[in-house]
Amino acid sequence: MTATSKFSSAGGGQAASDVLLLGAAGNSGQLIAAELAARGLSMRLAGRRRGPLEDLAVALAATGAKADVRAVDAGDRESLAEAVAGAGVVLSTAGPFARQAGPVIDACLAAGVPYVDIANEWAAVRGLLDRDEDARARGVALVTGAGFGPAATEALVLRLVERTGAVPARVRVAAAAAVARHSDGVRQTIQESLPQGALTYRDGQLVSEALGSGATVLTFGGAQRQLLPGPVGDLETARLASGAASVVAYISNPAAHPGGTDSWTWAEVTGPDGRVACAELQTGDGVLATAAIAAETTARVLAGAAPGAWTPGALFGAGLVTDATGARVTMNGQPA
Ligand SMILES: NC(=O)c1ccc[n+]([C@@H]2O[C@H](COP(=O)([O-])OP(=O)(O)OC[C@H]3O[C@@H](n4cnc5c(N)ncnc54)[C@H](OP(=O)(O)O)[C@@H]3O)[C@@H](O)[C@H]2O)c1
Repeated sequence: MTATSKFSSAGGGQAASDVLLLGAAGNSGQLIAAELAARGLSMRLAGRRRGPLEDLAVALAATGAKADVRAVDAGDRESLAEAVAGAGVVLSTAGPFARQAGPVIDACLAAGVPYVDIANEWAAVRGLLDRDEDARARGVALVTGAGFGPAATEALVLRLVERTGAVPARVRVAAAAAVARHSDGVRQTIQESLPQGALTYRDGQLVSEALGSGATVLTFGGAQRQLLPGPVGDLETARLASGAASVVAYISNPAAHPGGTDSWTWAEVTGPDGRVACAELQTGDGVLATAAIAAETTARVLAGAAPGAWTPGALFGAGLVTDATGARVTMNGQPA
């Protein structure tokens, strides 16, 4: 899909670039830059270190993409404000988001520029959604979780709830991403979020237990998987997408990977009558899927999105993830 560069900045003038891509030279940032370029969007590549950003700008220019470079530290209010003011939309990959997203969101709200991120920590997803009132008051769209996690489980929950037509009593979701490369950003994010332990919703209440509580084994994507309830954004998006009072979001037990090159998500809804329905989603590398989902979400936000704080599925529906990635979905074992 090709989006047109027609965005005007909050000041009414033409934006300097369609997208301020924060964390552009990172593992997910580079793949996202390629996806944005494929959609015809101009970019300002941002991060703390100039060298890797300049290398990326040269590589993108060779493909005909429009990209310039700006050294920005998400922790430095002044440089952030200057960079954000010239953008049509900000897309941030600068995690851990629970620690780093706040000032970026503040700068976007102050400048009236929409914001998208690829957070998958429960605290970061919940934190952005809590800014809904601010976002509406300032007429700005904020979107969190525009990556494989949690958008790919959210898409399944939305489909299941639409098919069953009732608010489920319980929802469980799980994600098993296959990735070619592990980055410092992901390692740091896991390290900082796991101490929150096993978060779940029970009867509408957020419950926190020691990591490992509620561990289980599920079979999906043709493999048996050891899973743990985790402090991930999927917990919040599954709750919002379903209205269920009891929700569990599982992560793979880091010590027990079944291998393979495909990424899978799984969702199960239990209706008020006890009936159970399941769905699975299959795609390739998890970071490639994240790049496609983030770029597609960003292009759609740039084209115009309602003010407020959103998850990708709440804003663009269950089809966003499959449109962006070409992922295959089955419901109760049948192609959907
Ligand atoms: N939702 C999903 O499915 C999904 C998928 C992949 C990744 N993620 C998340 O996305 C984040 C990034 O992952 P990654 O693999 O891309 O990590 P990465 O390869 O380490 O890249 C992170 C990038 O962010 C930049 N950065 C970090 N702190 C910054 C700051 N204060 N100001 C400006 N730029 C900053 C870094 O550049 P400098 O050091 O030069 O500043 C780096 O280029 C992590 O939190 C990860 O968990 C989510």
